[in-house]
Amino acid sequence: MQANRIMEIVNVAELAAIDAAVWNGKGDKVSADQAATSAMRKAFNEMSFSGRIVIGEGERDKAPMLFIGEELGRGGEEIDIAVDPLEGTNLCAYNQANALTTIAVAPRGALLFAPDTYMRKIAAGPACVGKVHVDKTPAENIAAVAEALGKPVSEVNVCILERDRHADLIKAVREAGARIRLIGDGDVFGAIATAVPGTGIDLYMGTGGAPEGVLACTGLKAIGGVFMGRFDFGVDEEGVEKRVRAEKTAGVNLDGVLTMDMLVRSDDAAFVACGVTDGEMVSGVSHEGGSITTESVVMNSADHTVRFIKTCRTNGDGAVRF
Ligand code: FBP
Repeated sequence: MQANRIMEIVNVAELAAIDAAVWNGKGDKVSADQAATSAMRKAFNEMSFSGRIVIGEGERDKAPMLFIGEELGRGGEEIDIAVDPLEGTNLCAYNQANALTTIAVAPRGALLFAPDTYMRKIAAGPACVGKVHVDKTPAENIAAVAEALGKPVSEVNVCILERDRHADLIKAVREAGARIRLIGDGDVFGAIATAVPGTGIDLYMGTGGAPEGVLACTGLKAIGGVFMGRFDFGVDEEGVEKRVRAEKTAGVNLDGVLTMDMLVRSDDAAFVACGVTDGEMVSGVSHEGGSITTESVVMNSADHTVRFIKTCRTNGDGAVRF
């Protein structure tokens, strides 16, 4: 994806983060999510492109903004967009680490219309390509990551969402002897952090949102990391109905392994996330002396880089970038 297009997407993620951060620690995740979503929609609509939401806030009748299939922008290059305008709504509402605004982009038709259900996922950085698999045991995957990273199993740090459904997974990781970084929410962060130096996270495993899986996969594909999944309708209370609908829309074997190339069908892809609250990867939105500072991470397949962009807006207009 071209650099100027990426910068426009970064701008969208930043504006959404600034509006969401107004709600940091206010205990109101709905207002925080709405703020991020409407800022994102407004900013996308000012871009000269033809954007189509593939993963958004839900179907049109349930989501007034950024619904699946919504067309955005003033016309131009045709791009598919996956968004989680506020990834970790509770993290923002309770001022906890790693609430992010997240956007993935790829050419039209490239991103999977993932059903809004669960996905069992595994993610790791570039050194682990071909070494881990969603069907291997936690002990096998941890041993493979340890070998690939040249560190003992006892130093491998596995990120897992803190959920009752992960009791067996957590037990297995402990028995293998690895470290665990439990997160309350936000598994897009957990997955992409495996490929971002400095986060301390080596491996992500567990079941989270399927749409979030596509977002994370885009970032990992852009920089040559690993992501693999399987839909997990069984965890979902509405899994039976969602499966029936997904049979018509997803266009993949719902029972098979989901590879990176199935989730993101292009080598031209990019992922952008902007910090809302402070975290290991990026700082959250901060205000000082009339200026607003944001930090974003960009993963772009054009050069396989992880880039950090710190932006300072003075009085809300005239951005100064450094
Ligand atoms: P929200 O941003 O919608 O609050 O989702 C946060 C999240 O933790 C995701 O990162 C994760 O994929 C999903 O929820 C897990 O779902 P559940 O909370 O139902 O286990």
